[in-house]
Amino acid sequence: MIQIKKYNELDQSVKDQLDSFIDSEFGHIPIVRETKWATPDWTIINFQDGAIATFYNIVERTITIDNEVIKIGGVNNVITPKEFRGKGYASKTLKETEDLLFEDLKCSLGVLLCADELIPFYQRLNWYKVDCPIYFEQPDGEKLWRANAMLLSKGDKLSPQIIKLNGLPW
Ligand SMILES: CC(C)(COP(=O)(O)OP(=O)(O)OC[C@H]1O[C@@H](n2cnc3c(N)ncnc32)[C@H](O)[C@@H]1OP(=O)(O)O)[C@@H](O)C(=O)NCCC(=O)NCCS
Repeated sequence: MIQIKKYNELDQSVKDQLDSFIDSEFGHIPIVRETKWATPDWTIINFQDGAIATFYNIVERTITIDNEVIKIGGVNNVITPKEFRGKGYASKTLKETEDLLFEDLKCSLGVLLCADELIPFYQRLNWYKVDCPIYFEQPDGEKLWRANAMLLSKGDKLSPQIIKLNGLPW
């Protein structure tokens, strides 16, 4: 069962479980600890017999691509707890909730920031890598994103020259 919930309406016990998965996957990475991240707006959880089989978050944001201001859904913390991995849960959940981004939230694009090794995984789900500079905000000013960014388009693929996330990264 796939549940779509506003992040701030999640039960505390669920939030605690998600936080503990996030911490064990990413908490040891220095850049993750040193960066201030956006609070998600939505959490998508695939439950199997009451257990969290996979989940991810969406940040709703208006970003600037070249000179155009567009609404996007920033995808982050895609995690499948270890015992559920390799069974297609993350792929299936991302695929089955594309309508949430494009139809319900009226986003023109999905945007994710990710590590090199996950690029082929997202490419299989129609995400594509962009190679332009991407700027995001931190309390001490604007910064350049040093890892990868991928987009998901409903229509034609974009080849942007510059992206500004207009806020904290996700
Ligand atoms: C990435 C992740 C969400 C995939 O979840 P999943 O439910 O197992 O995904 P699926 O079953 O749909 O697809 C599995 C495929 O993802 C790819 N994949 C997963 N992790 C990978 C990694 N670290 N490096 C390269 N490919 C990877 C593999 O192709 C894998 O196929 P395989 O099982 O045949 O090897 C899960 O491995 C995870 O939680 N990893 C740790 C957190 C993370 O890195 N999240 C991504 C943040 S951008």
